[in-house]
Amino acid sequence: MESVIVAIDGPSGTGKSSTSKAVAAKLGLSYLDTGAQYRAITWWMITNGVDVDDADVVASAAGKPTIVSGTDPSHPTITVDGVDASGPIRTQEVTSKVSAVSAVPEVRTRITELQRSIAASAEHGIVVEGRDIGTTVLPDADLKIFLTASPEARAARRSGELKGADVHATREALIKRDAADSSRKTSPLAKADDAVEVDTTQLTLQQVIECVVTLVEEKRAAA
Ligand code: DC
Repeated sequence: MESVIVAIDGPSGTGKSSTSKAVAAKLGLSYLDTGAQYRAITWWMITNGVDVDDADVVASAAGKPTIVSGTDPSHPTITVDGVDASGPIRTQEVTSKVSAVSAVPEVRTRITELQRSIAASAEHGIVVEGRDIGTTVLPDADLKIFLTASPEARAARRSGELKGADVHATREALIKRDAADSSRKTSPLAKADDAVEVDTTQLTLQQVIECVVTLVEEKRAAA
């Protein structure tokens, strides 16, 4: 079977992670969560006392941590300097600071290089999820998907994941983070011109997974 590279971008709460993992598992592909990498470098900055609002300090520290991602879709892992970071990267503190850290060009260069080398070494192909995969990281991906959903649907999904967090507060936080991710100068959240847009507002997770699996199979058949 031909190796295939699939880029899945979109804002948070669109079902990106669940869809990407399930599609990769179903098709025997590797899986990379690039948001986890930006969260990991943010966590390292926080725990090492770096002022994340000082872009110059963040830039000069960007090369320091060693970030390793495990790409098995049924058990994705992430370590920072050999320490399991999968729990700490999901805290509210990291979530509130990750947009500032990921807007720093030196951070993006570092993490983008890492992403490209992981994608290049995936034997059977890979599903890479993020914000700038189709536009910047892997512009030659075989298939590019851009997932969207209404802010209400995204907030409701995120509140569910956060076990009953206030939907209104979650919606406001999501909108703020999307605005920061979409308006930054270096590789903002954006749909690539050749990406297929899938609005997931009215779809179940299973329907989104089936839709993307079909798109990958069609691509493979046409290759
Ligand atoms: O997907 P996520 O919510 O875990 O991503 C966390 C943050 O990382 C997101 O707010 C913006 C940043 N990010 C990015 O800048 N580029 C990517 N390819 C993936 C995530």
